[in-house]
Order: sequence, then structure tokens, then C-alpha cells
Amino acid sequence: MKRIIRTALVMSIGLASTQCSTSQTGSTAQETQTVASTTAPASAAVADPEMKKFVDDLLSKMTLDEKIGQLNLVSVGFDVTGPVVSKNVDENIRKGNVGGVFNTYTPIAAKKLQEFAVNNTRLKIPLLFGYDVIHGHRTIFPIPLGLSASWDMETVERSARIAADEASADGLNWVYSPMVDIARDARWGRIAEGAGEDPYLGSEIARAMVRGYQGDDLTKENTVMATVKHFALYGASEAGRDYNTVDMSMNRMFNEYLPPYKAAIEAGAGSVMTSFNEINGVPATGNRWLMTELLRDQWGFDGFVVTDYTAINEMIAHGVGDEAKVGELALKAGSDMDMVGEVYLNNLRQSVEKGNLTEEDINTAVRRILEAKYKLGLFEDPYRYADEARAKNTIMKPEYREAARDIARKSMVLLKNEKQVLPLKKTGSIALIGPLANNQRDLIGNWSGAGDWKQAVSVEQGIKNVAGNSVKINYAKGANITDDEQMIKRLNAHGGELQLDKRNAEQMIAEAVKVAQKSDVIVAVVGESQGMSGEAASRADITLPGQQRELLKALKKTGKPMVVVLMNGRPLALKWEDENADAILETWFAGTEAGNAIADVLFGSYNPSGKLTATFPQVVGQIPLYYNHKNTGRPFNGELLNKYTTRYMDVTNEPLYPFGYGLSYTTFKYSPPQLSKNSISPNENVEVTVQVQNTGNYDGEEVVQLYVQDVVGSITRPVKELKGFQKINLKKGESKTVTFTIEPEDLKFYNNDLEHVLEPGEFKVYVGTNSRDVQEAGFTVTQ
Ligand code: BGC
Repeated sequence: MKRIIRTALVMSIGLASTQCSTSQTGSTAQETQTVASTTAPASAAVADPEMKKFVDDLLSKMTLDEKIGQLNLVSVGFDVTGPVVSKNVDENIRKGNVGGVFNTYTPIAAKKLQEFAVNNTRLKIPLLFGYDVIHGHRTIFPIPLGLSASWDMETVERSARIAADEASADGLNWVYSPMVDIARDARWGRIAEGAGEDPYLGSEIARAMVRGYQGDDLTKENTVMATVKHFALYGASEAGRDYNTVDMSMNRMFNEYLPPYKAAIEAGAGSVMTSFNEINGVPATGNRWLMTELLRDQWGFDGFVVTDYTAINEMIAHGVGDEAKVGELALKAGSDMDMVGEVYLNNLRQSVEKGNLTEEDINTAVRRILEAKYKLGLFEDPYRYADEARAKNTIMKPEYREAARDIARKSMVLLKNEKQVLPLKKTGSIALIGPLANNQRDLIGNWSGAGDWKQAVSVEQGIKNVAGNSVKINYAKGANITDDEQMIKRLNAHGGELQLDKRNAEQMIAEAVKVAQKSDVIVAVVGESQGMSGEAASRADITLPGQQRELLKALKKTGKPMVVVLMNGRPLALKWEDENADAILETWFAGTEAGNAIADVLFGSYNPSGKLTATFPQVVGQIPLYYNHKNTGRPFNGELLNKYTTRYMDVTNEPLYPFGYGLSYTTFKYSPPQLSKNSISPNENVEVTVQVQNTGNYDGEEVVQLYVQDVVGSITRPVKELKGFQKINLKKGESKTVTFTIEPEDLKFYNNDLEHVLEPGEFKVYVGTNSRDVQEAGFTVTQ
């Protein structure tokens, strides 16, 4: 048994301690050596005395009803994401029953509403203006899953910065992003909204997003408050079905799912949104362990918590109490603001009168909301974020569209490129086929906030822009995205804009084949409609929907080179496409500039550099499939006739495309990794060096990835875990030395006592171009 080196937090967690009472470390007190001291929660250190005084004064003037009003968040507008809509909004604002609004923007609308609130209420407390700014506000960037595939933190931060600039000019001061839920299940539609499956990369992205939104000063007119969501574990809903139950061990939770939330908190995110799921049998919104003991007491969060949409009311259906009871549970748990459900508004006074809650409980929540308003500078100037002139000069300015094009290119992942069919030459003719080939609506993706799809550049237009008249485009739709009329109705009820071509599949395919026959190369733009991923958009079958595979099969028979351009919000099962297409470019839903960016990549003005952040399975039945899995006692060893190993009878365990995978038009050669030391003490760093050479014919970027495996642990450890990455630029023929520093912190994990420990022993290091194709080295951490 290794000796355990303990650091930092020794946790007392109500709920957790019951679940984790069976420690398997086997270590004794004598064996345990503490090497670092406890880190104090950040909140204590940063409390601003002036803010405290201001809020104390204000609180002392407020009636109980005015306080409860501050805890109420209403939706004003048409973007509803639940079955309930806020009613009597004007009247409620006038009565002081509203602390914030969301789904209202434009400087004029926001200013009007803010004036209404300030001028009609006794204490003139300004409103918060929130919105789902998820991947851009007006200028739309790739969906977050796509953005994460850039592995480029400057790019990620830049997208959030631009979004903040536009949103704040448009009347908003609070955004419901970043969504940092780790997701390993491609059936879950909301995998589109996050950064994929990895806690390390997810944490880096969480930090970059918070920096981008909040900048270094929340009072500035062009920064907005970020909301980290959905706290917590929402991405682990059973069977990938949205809103479903989550059940998870503490060891998985702390090591694999919680790190990105914690990273966002440490980066200073001003607010947190609860998740719809339960955690250890208690809905997150009423989970005091989660929202107070973990979030505040241990992580030091000092902002405010907003529930998800009607999440307090939904605790009734979860089966933990009636309306009064769930309101009390949520407030006591630390949910400060009630989104749309009005449980607080309608019940908290009685709960206080009955003695189930104290006025101090209410004060705690109100204080946090008033502090948020103070931090945003709203008491100084309630109209800071509604500036018509700034909106005019900021929103969708050419520079931002240019940035969107660049960010979109960086998010695309080249999955296959046989015989260098890509990049395309700017001569001859292209059969441009597929339901997404001249589409605009889908390009801006789901959760595209205030984005206007009519501003989006289609692939057809992009090709024209990039290749001009030197390429002849022969177009055919070839197939509908889906032929399922029920599904189309559902999608269109939420802005889908899908039009069913009334020709039958055979007719549409026949036309496409004709078009292909008279062209030099096929570019088939296929995939999902944007509404097939995102909230309440889980799919049990994750192949190309409708007749699109049939279309590709018919096109294949023409013998023409076939490039498949994919648009989708999740990993798809693409075994047939991988076996039959000559090239596959994953473009996600790439945003306002999608068509230009896709054409840049197709014609080689940009050499693709994106890498997958979520594993693509061969078939849906392999899910959940992720690279950082544990070993079993019977690992599959490649021997097909060996029955008693962990495997399926009908498919291998391998993904179709692993985490971190993505090709370039050029090729890169890696030298074996060199370590600065083969043995280190628990406080030392070790450096890993690798030479990477561009051995192909194009300049290009490569994401060099570093993984570590803790070979023996007091609890089982993943086969490898990402612990570093660097995106480098290499000219044709150029070599660079890449150095990673592995610090003791990178080698730690949470043991079953939830101590964050480094256990001495053997570590393996893997460096490579993706999580599968790596070269190995190793070192030992001594006692
Ligand atoms: C979603 C959140 C979103 C909220 C407000 C909910 O249904 O789960 O992600 O921020 O609606 O629109």
C-alpha cells in the first residue's frame, strides 16, 4: 500500500460522509503525512466593507415582502424553456415583487423596464437583466462543444469577451453561461452546450469563459456576470435522457464531474445555476450539502445561486414535498433566486410566519442578490448596460464577424482525409448536395440567443465567397434532414424552420445522383437540425437522421470522390460514413460565419486543427464511452476468442474516433517523450519534453496532448487522464520542442475519504496527437 500524502481540504460533508464511510485507503494515521496547509475559502478574504455597509443599510430599510420580491426572477419575452410562463409582470415589478428579469434585451427595452422598476418601487432597487448568452449574443460562434474542439483558450476567451461586449450593449448584465457539465453520453442533447467529456480541459475552458465574460472589473459597462451551470452533475442523467435521474459515487463526482464547476468558481464566476437532477436522492435545487456545504463552505463561493427554470416547483414532482415545503428546502439549501416558478413569492412569508424559516434565512439570500447588483455597479447607474449608441457601434461589427469566422474555422475537426481529397482545388465543378448545403437556420445552432439566422452565411454562399467563379457549383438537396413529420412539428414549434420537401426520397436521391455524375467532386453537407440537440433534445438513435445515409450510399455508387461535411450537436455514430466517405469534416453548428469558415477549410485557406472533446462511438450501444475510463479485472486484450474479458460480442470496445482526435492537411511526427527525472519526491515537478515536426506539405497547427496514469492507487484510477496540452503552429518542415511541467497538483486525486492526495508510486506519461495514439514514458514518486 502506498503512503498517502494529504493536502488541503479534509472535508466534513453531511451527505457525503454517510456515503463515503467505507474508506478503502487502508492507510493509518501514522502513515499519513500532511504536505500542504488548508486553503481558506476565497470569500472571507474579498468581502468589500463598503459593499457590506451599503447592503446592510438597504436591507435594514426593506420590508419582508420587498425582500422576498428580490428573490423572484421573471421571464419577460418569448424565449421560454419550460412549460410555465411568467404572468402579471408589470404589476409584480410595480409591487416590488421582482429582483431580476430575463429574456428581455435591446437597450431600449431594457432601459424602459429598468426605469419602470426604479421609478415605481419604494426603494428603487434596479433589476438584473439575464439571458442565455451561450455561444455569442448577436454574432454567433460555434456551439460550445465545437468551440471546445479548438483547444485554444485565447479563442474561447475571445468568444466570451465579444459576447459580453454585445450583450452588455444590448441591455444585459448577467449571462447564463458557461455550461460546464461533463457529458459522456452522446444521446443527451445538451452535450452540445458544454465542453465535452474531460474534467481537465473542461476546467480550462470554464476559466477562460468566466474571464471572457467578467473581465477584471464587473462594474465596467462592457462586462457581464457569468453563471456557471448546471450545478451539478446534470450531464450524467441516466440513459442520456434529459432531466433524468443522476446517481453517482463520490469518487467519480469529485474526480471527474466537479472540477469544472470548481474551476469556474475559482475564476470568480458571480453566480451559479442549479441543475434539474437529483444528487444522492436530493434534487440539486434543494440540496444543502451541494449548495452550501460544498459550494460555499468548502469552495468559498460568495456570489448568488439562481435555480434553473421552475426547478423549485419541480421538486414537488421529484417527490420531496408540497409547494411550501420545497420552497423552504430550496431556500435553506442555498438557492437564492427562484427562476419563473414563484414558489418563493407565494410561500416564503407564510413559512416565516409559521416559524419554518427565519427572516435571517431570507436576508441571507437577499443580501447575495443585492451584492450582485452592487458588484455590477447597478446602484450607481441602473442604465449602465443599456446604451443605444454603444449597441449600434458594437453589435455584429465587421471585426466581430471576422472573429466569428476565425473561431469557427478553429473549431472544425477533420475526421478523415483519404488520398488528400481535401483541400479542394478552386477549379472544376462541385456537386453540392444535402439538406444543410444551402441552409441558414441550422448554422447558428441551438441556444443561439439573440442571433439572427438570416445573417448566417450558408455553405453554398461561403463556397462562392471563397472560390469565386472559378468553381462551378451544381446543387441538389438530396434528402430532408428528417422525414418524420412529428419530429418536424416539434422542431418547428421551437423555431426550427424546417420545410419538408414533398418529393419522395427516391426522387430526391435520383436528382442528387445526376448532379454528382456531372461534377468532379461531391461535397455532401449532412447532419442534424439544430433543434435535435440542446435542451429536451435527446436522441436514442445517433446516426444521421432520415434518409441521409441512403443519400450518401447512392452518391458513393457514382464513384466520385465524396467529401462529407457534418453539422451536428453531438458525437454521431458514423461507422458507415467513416468506411465510405473519402473525407469527413466535422463542423458542428459553426455560427454566423459558418459557410465562410467551412469554405476556408475546404479550400485550404485554413488548415484544420480542431480535436474532438467527446468520444465518437461506433454504435450507440457502446455509450457511455470515454477515454479516461477505469480498467477492469478482465481487460480486453485483443484476443477475439477469449470469451471472459470485458467486451461486446458484436462490436469492439474501440471508439470510432477517440477523444483528442483530429487530422490536419499536414502530418506531424513526434519524438519519444523525454523526462527531466525518472524519480521525484512528492513536492517536485517533472518536465516532459517532446519534439514535434511538421512532416507534411502545409503549415499547420497541432494540439500536443499530455496524459498521465497513476498506475497503482488506494482506489482504482483511470487508464489515462489529460494533464496538459499545447496548441502549436508549425511551418512546413519546422520542428518545435514542447515542454510540459507536471506539478504535484496534477498527480493528485480525491480518495474515498475525499482527501485530495498524491500517492507515491509509479506514474506513466503519454504524449501524442490524441488520447489513443501516444508514446509512453514513466517516472516514480518516492515516499
Ligand atoms: C435551462 C437553462 C437556462 C434556463 C433559462 C432552462 O430550461 O436548463 O440552461 O439557462 O432554462 O432559459
